[in-house]
Amino acid sequence: MQKRSNFSSKLGFVLAASGSAVGLGNIWRFPYLAAKYGGGTFLLIYLILAVTFGFALMTAEIALGRKTGLSAIGAFKSLDKRFGFLGVLASIVPIIIFPYYSVIGGWVIKYFAVFISGGSAASAGDTYFSDFIGGTFEPLGWFFLFMALTAIIVLFGVEKGIEKVSKVMMPILVVLTVIISIYGLTLDGAMEGLVYYIQPHMSDVSAKTILAAMGQLFYSMSLAMGIMVTYGSYMKKDNNLESSVRQIEMFDTGIAFLAGLMIIPAVFAFSGGDRSALGAGPGLMFITLPKVFASMKFGGAIGTIFFLLVFFAALTSAISLMETIVSIFRDKFHWGRRNACLFVAVLALILGAPSSLGFGPLSFISWMGMSVLDIMDFVSNSVLMPIVALGTCIFVGFIIRPKTISDEVKETDGKFKAEKLFSVMIKWVAPIFLVLILASSVASGLGWFSI
Ligand code: PHE
Repeated sequence: MQKRSNFSSKLGFVLAASGSAVGLGNIWRFPYLAAKYGGGTFLLIYLILAVTFGFALMTAEIALGRKTGLSAIGAFKSLDKRFGFLGVLASIVPIIIFPYYSVIGGWVIKYFAVFISGGSAASAGDTYFSDFIGGTFEPLGWFFLFMALTAIIVLFGVEKGIEKVSKVMMPILVVLTVIISIYGLTLDGAMEGLVYYIQPHMSDVSAKTILAAMGQLFYSMSLAMGIMVTYGSYMKKDNNLESSVRQIEMFDTGIAFLAGLMIIPAVFAFSGGDRSALGAGPGLMFITLPKVFASMKFGGAIGTIFFLLVFFAALTSAISLMETIVSIFRDKFHWGRRNACLFVAVLALILGAPSSLGFGPLSFISWMGMSVLDIMDFVSNSVLMPIVALGTCIFVGFIIRPKTISDEVKETDGKFKAEKLFSVMIKWVAPIFLVLILASSVASGLGWFSI
């Protein structure tokens, strides 16, 4: 049995977990979903889910890890043999996410390269992004590059270095995001966009919006895929679990909010309030921001720094994804680190290639209007993660009982302020809600009705 190393301090734990949590999900995914699903409505639903649902699930996952000292597969199994499958299911999620995550990481490197070589003006062109992803095999090269960088770091295990780097990078990212959003808000027509972003309209609330917000919550906070269980297994008993969860949540949600503030009002300004521009989806960050930069003084330099920071945020998340997958294979097959890394990298290259080419050479593959990348995203976020989350709720609520988790949370100072909320959420609200949402998404997937 390997000795588990621990995070040295609570801050260390919170930062490491935030490094995994804060990534493309916050800067790339959140803004395009919020823009698409009604702005303020999406934001409000997301915030409500984060402080109730997200809080309960993250607390449960970290506590499970800390209590058992094991990562997902082992943690569930060690508490109840029948629930080992849940750990296995959770482990499949990062295997699906990692490849397409790296595809987008590749797009980010491409934009960084374009900006640093003085191409910022060209990248603001209307069809620049679609020409890039839809053209040739070029995206595949950037995807390989991103994957290779991640693999090298995971192989050498220079996590310490990365942790140090992200401690500097993350604050700079925040400052830069604030500057860019303030600038964006001064553009003509941006105020209308700001209103769209923060004002909810109850008529926009639909099962689809809630499902999208929930999938985003899991994705952004690295939940329902065993990652927080693993992180919890490295956490010391004398670090306060409840306040750690609150801090990670605040950090993660804060960055997502800022990213939305940076992108959504600017989309409004540049599209003259055209709602269809808001539904642009995955390309939003790559289409709109270059336009903002192009209209800004020193836009080329600011854009260069921006894409470098996004790259770092993406890299720290990709490392945590790959590290998780590598350790799954190592535990299962007792492989050495090198072999496991190589295997995972090759597997991810094979799995990711169709996502990378799905807008160009493979654009004929589509399902319900979704490209390969969107399908991967949908299957992991809207199908598998809700199932794992539901399983976790049932497991904690009715098998090991919420008290097991509460006791673990109380290890530090005997307190668990949100104990009642936690127990009601995990036993009743979350599972009922998840079943309803899952059922409606399956029903609409089968074409029974549309949501
Ligand atoms: N949470 C990360 C993000 O927001 C994505 C991620 C998911 C990272 C799962 C690790 C594990 O970008």
